[in-house]
Amino acid sequence: MKLTSTLLLTPFLASALSLYSPSSSGVTTQNDAFPVPGSQPLTYCNDPKDYILEVHNVDLIPNPPVPGEKLTIKANGTFHEQIEEGATVFLQVRYGLITLIKQEADMCEQLPKIDIECPINEGYMEIMKEVNIPRQVPPGKYTVLADVKTKDKRAITCMEAAIVFPR
Ligand SMILES: *[C@@H]1O[C@H](CO)[C@@H](O)[C@H](O)[C@H]1NC(C)=O
Repeated sequence: MKLTSTLLLTPFLASALSLYSPSSSGVTTQNDAFPVPGSQPLTYCNDPKDYILEVHNVDLIPNPPVPGEKLTIKANGTFHEQIEEGATVFLQVRYGLITLIKQEADMCEQLPKIDIECPINEGYMEIMKEVNIPRQVPPGKYTVLADVKTKDKRAITCMEAAIVFPR
């Protein structure tokens, strides 16, 4: 399960696309210097060399996602140390200038959504997850940021993406 943040992010993204919530503002930057390997729009937030999760590959099928269709996420990676309770996921989803989601969650409480439990053992993991993208996705640009940290605030991974649903 290398793809902690993407995997976590997908159920969040799917729900973000189907519901609006009051928002505060935030800033997401796209960093094209550090693309995540695979077929998807993800980039790392910064140089991933010290991330605990080394991502080998993440594929979105189809890429880009299609409203009203099933989206399959396939990912694999290697955790370079065991991940314990207390890890957090900061997730931000924006639609244009509107912040739809901006929250920090307990990572271990979110993992069952992708059939994983804490602790996550050191070593190789692969995951596959299917989600339904709502048919009525408001057209426009969505940006997503997922920042995953250990209890003592070391980077597990951090990824960003921009997805445009055309009108
Ligand atoms: C990760 O997945 C990709 C794509 O499916 C595959 O080519 C690659 O061999 C996998 N990496 C490992 C270490 O298994």
